Amino acid sequence: MNQKIAAFRKEFPTLEEKFDGRKLVYLDSACTVLKMKCAAQAQSRHMLLLGGCGGKRSMHSLAAAMEEDFYAARSRVAAFMGAPSPEEVIFTAGVTDAANLLANSFPFTPGRNEVVLSPLEHNAVFLPFERLAAAGRIKLRVAPLKDFKIDMAGLGKLIGPRTALVCVTHASNIFGGCEDAAAAAELAHQAGAFLFVDDAQYAPTHGGGGARFGADASAFSGHKIGAPFFTGGLFVKHGLLEKLRPWRVGGGTVESVAVSGGRYSATYLGGRQGFEAGVQNYSGAAGLAAAIGRLDRAGFDNIRDHVSGLVADALEKLEAVKEVRVLGRREDLVDGSLISIAPLKKGFSVPDFNLFLGQQIKGRLIAVRTGRHCADLACLASGYKETIRISFFAYNTTEDTDIFVAALKKYLALLNGR
Ligand SMILES: Cc1ncc(COP(=O)(O)O)c(C=O)c1O
Repeated sequence: MNQKIAAFRKEFPTLEEKFDGRKLVYLDSACTVLKMKCAAQAQSRHMLLLGGCGGKRSMHSLAAAMEEDFYAARSRVAAFMGAPSPEEVIFTAGVTDAANLLANSFPFTPGRNEVVLSPLEHNAVFLPFERLAAAGRIKLRVAPLKDFKIDMAGLGKLIGPRTALVCVTHASNIFGGCEDAAAAAELAHQAGAFLFVDDAQYAPTHGGGGARFGADASAFSGHKIGAPFFTGGLFVKHGLLEKLRPWRVGGGTVESVAVSGGRYSATYLGGRQGFEAGVQNYSGAAGLAAAIGRLDRAGFDNIRDHVSGLVADALEKLEAVKEVRVLGRREDLVDGSLISIAPLKKGFSVPDFNLFLGQQIKGRLIAVRTGRHCADLACLASGYKETIRISFFAYNTTEDTDIFVAALKKYLALLNGR
């Protein structure tokens, strides 16, 4: 293991914890990455030593210090996301929050009211648009799936002069690998539409995301990079930001309020300020900035190499198990951080196997994710109703995979009555 990665591993105290006396084998980082010591410390220092209110509400020096710190975090997030300016970053609670904001603020018009989604969209992105479609406000189109990836030609065929927005997951949370965000940007822009890229699964091991590939908007979740829960960033290009109509309003978003003839009116602030209503998660943002700083020090090249190595190693070991099917192609999967498998053996119960991993392996708690992974569109398109997903981050080792594969073989042996 590369020295920087070995040092980085020490940031994650959960790895040293025991659960009911059992050591953790954590293969569920696609759900959430374990949290970094430096992020927790930055967050708690911020709460205990500052603890005031940012924004421009109060003008005393504690408030000024808070706002300065918050802006420093915004700049760090902007650099991480590849946003040209911190003014193009809106703090959010994660990708779910970001996608809801975008869907409900988007300037659909009668002539441009279609949204084209990839078939890999997480429910976090799919459902906010599905709601608008159900209310008759937009038309939703879902591109086809090919070899467990987005069928880009199929996506292109759905995009036309009525398309307002295209949404593409940069790295699928169910089938792994990475998607071609630059190609999606070209397809969207040729038709005069905007592109949103979901970087939830891409950002943790690649750094940043869609903004670097021509997206007009992109989002990531802090908890998936080892930062505090309920933190994250939404990048929105100036040209689009100006057109959005904030869906949540409140303190900090308004320039002035007036009354005339008994009628009140409000003038809202422009830009990203219009989208951060009420007090913000200032201490969370401090934790988020600390986590990004630590990831940068570990180096995304090192993280990527390490995780690709883990995926390649796991593929070899899983492909040798004939009673399961690895979903997706090797050349695609090594760019990602996870592998989904489906059982081929009759009598294999995925929920039972999950319990078996959690409870029946002596001295170990093997944490994986089974089920639909909130990727219902992908399940519908592929015909797979559930998968067993193992996902990696920089702290994993090939030994984690060995333990999982041994447990899988043990479960299969039990089914075979051996
Ligand atoms: C691809 C993808 N998008 C969006 C989300 C939603 O992220 P959050 O729950 O942090 O808002 C997830 C979470 O698993 C995800 O994997």
